[in-house]
Amino acid sequence: MALTFTQLTPVFAGEASPIDLRQVRDRETLEAIRAGMDTYAVLVFRDQRFSDQDQLEFAERFDGMLHARTSSAVLTTNRLGNEALADISNVDRFGNIRAEDDRQRAASVANRLWHTDASFVDPPGRYSMLSARVIPPVRADTEFADMRAAYDELDPETRARIEGLQVHHSIAYSRHVLGFEFSDEEKEKLKGAVHPLVRTIPGSGRRALYLASHAQEVIGMPLPEGRLLLHDLIEHATRPHLTYRHIWRPYDFVIWDNRCTMHRARPFDDRTHRRELRRTTSLDLPLPVTA
Ligand code: OGA
Ligand code: MN
Repeated sequence: MALTFTQLTPVFAGEASPIDLRQVRDRETLEAIRAGMDTYAVLVFRDQRFSDQDQLEFAERFDGMLHARTSSAVLTTNRLGNEALADISNVDRFGNIRAEDDRQRAASVANRLWHTDASFVDPPGRYSMLSARVIPPVRADTEFADMRAAYDELDPETRARIEGLQVHHSIAYSRHVLGFEFSDEEKEKLKGAVHPLVRTIPGSGRRALYLASHAQEVIGMPLPEGRLLLHDLIEHATRPHLTYRHIWRPYDFVIWDNRCTMHRARPFDDRTHRRELRRTTSLDLPLPVTA
């Protein structure tokens, strides 16, 4: 049966009709999902019973090369044994819930700031694919914001003002904002990357704001003025009517387009409840020509 999508908000985000992505290999269905991403920017697939290997294989079938540097990986090695499988969880390598003062926990709670994955490296992340394995009995949602709609709603003066601007993104900056300190050696490895503030998404032709908690400095602008501009744009882009809040169920699989959305984790009692997800993110390289 053909894959269809039901839109989840008046602006963006779609839920896919039942499908088992482990079985999806044909070009037609993969293209239908890519087209869905260009329309909705966030797609929800229910009941995807992926093993880690299944998830890695699907991610590569869907979008080619995977990103291995989407978190502050300089801090620690991945307990899952593969840096392309990001450990989005509050548990340590022994399976225990991380202590409040655990350094890795302190780094990962920064996911609660609005961001887009791996904007602090070049190439950044294109599609992130998050698989829910253990979901707490309390709400622990993820919110998304549509940065195409945010661009569309800018006034002409602001559009003119931001045209052509470049922004320096750094994960050391977004962590520093929350009081997290990196050693000089770590900072050396986390120099960040520069990206345009406005991007055009090839598949849809739509323009989008490219913002994130990692956005540290507008190149060529005095630091305070640039930060205020970024602050105002993030405020504009995350007004409730431009957001979708995902309420997780076990085995949900959510794909988002990092080029034209931001997302953030919402707080929950993470000292009591386990929450374990696995993320694969593709590299934002020029799109492969599909045969
Ligand atoms: C991520 C992320 C948010 C969450 O996986 O990149 O930001 O709610 N996750 O876990
Ligand atoms: Mn993220």
